[in-house]
Amino acid sequence: MFILAAAGSAIGLGNIWKYPYIAGENGGAAFTLVYLGCVAVIGLPLIICEILVGRVTQKDPVGAFRTLNPPKSYWPLAGVLGVVSGFVILSFYSVVAGWSLAYIFKAIDGQFATFTDSTIAGAAFAKFSGDPWQPLFWHTIFMLMCVGVVIKGIKSGLERWNKILMPALVIILLGLVIRSLSLPGAGAGVAFLWQPDFSKITWEVVLLALGHACFTLSIGMGAMITYGSYLNKHENVIKDSVVVAVLDTAVALLAGMAIFPAVFATGGEPARGPSLIFETLPVVFNHMPAGALVGFFFFLFLSIAALTSAISLLEVPVAYLVDEKKISRAMATLGSAGLIWLLGIPCSLSMGSLKDFHPGGRTFFDWMDYISSNYFLPMGVLLMAIFVGWRWKDAIKEFNVGTKLPSGVGTTWITVVKWVAPLLIILVFLAQLGILSGD
Ligand code: TRP
Repeated sequence: MFILAAAGSAIGLGNIWKYPYIAGENGGAAFTLVYLGCVAVIGLPLIICEILVGRVTQKDPVGAFRTLNPPKSYWPLAGVLGVVSGFVILSFYSVVAGWSLAYIFKAIDGQFATFTDSTIAGAAFAKFSGDPWQPLFWHTIFMLMCVGVVIKGIKSGLERWNKILMPALVIILLGLVIRSLSLPGAGAGVAFLWQPDFSKITWEVVLLALGHACFTLSIGMGAMITYGSYLNKHENVIKDSVVVAVLDTAVALLAGMAIFPAVFATGGEPARGPSLIFETLPVVFNHMPAGALVGFFFFLFLSIAALTSAISLLEVPVAYLVDEKKISRAMATLGSAGLIWLLGIPCSLSMGSLKDFHPGGRTFFDWMDYISSNYFLPMGVLLMAIFVGWRWKDAIKEFNVGTKLPSGVGTTWITVVKWVAPLLIILVFLAQLGILSGD
């Protein structure tokens, strides 16, 4: 079912690993507020655009732009940007998914029992992620799992798992929220997540929030075009998009509520970066009855959620190579995954032997994440908004196929797509480049 596949793509490491760590680095509630605003004003209207373009063209992202345009236009390049984003994002995504896989086994063999506070858990994570071989091994396993699914074609039915996975993930998160909130000193974490300090909002924070809104909804690189291309004409895209956006946001906020109270209660600090959940949650498991079991299921579900997202990332280059370049599905999958695997190696080593290589204050891992999430994706979204708003004459008509909404809804949507979303993104880019005298 489409909605399961789309939710499976959206809900992943972005919600549970990335949202807490960037919120933690950027003022908590202040970041969250801007991020929620970006989801509502840019994310939701644009996820609808992508799915509609996919549904109407039934093509990969490059082919979709080609189909809707005169033969000699440059628009297919927007699809090519998406293919590149897929490579870059999956390279670091797979490394983090590998950490999650490894932590399934750390839960089983009882290692969490020694994690009595964040400092000990942090040292253990640093040792593991800084090891030259172990994280690379798990990164390799995860890429092989992606290949196993994508090589057969996305319709292999993996998304049916999401029907069980998603409720399971929500239940376990709820359990963690309750435990985390009842730890002594949890209040500071609640305040951090919900009481905005508006002075924390800079243009940089707005850029990160915008980038994260794109990342978490899987928009800006054509993933939702490929998924939309598997839809038939009469499915209610609007309803499905709203459900996906709401579920995705709910999971992120639950993750935040599970993590921040625990961060403050266990003596950690919120701005720890990508290691945040790996340093915090094992301590919470340790303070729970049957904690090893809970930890095992948590990292198992997180790994599967990462897999259902990762396949949507890998599917973009693969669909492009198969449809446009007429390469066999097996070759396209192996070739793309191989390249992504290679690119993942320096990402993984960024926690270890390449730790001290950080031009401009960011490691290789950080740069891949920063550039792809905050520049490539918003750029892809901007191009999509301009395309649907200004070039695609049937946009409104397609919007209304499969729904029975009052006509004002469609008009509002197209106005946002045409004006509000592109102008906001351009404003953020200009401010960030220092062209406006913001900061
Ligand atoms: N949205 C996923 C997450 O939050 C990651 C993801 C999957 C993604 N497909 C994407 C991000 C396409 C950007 C574009 O984990």
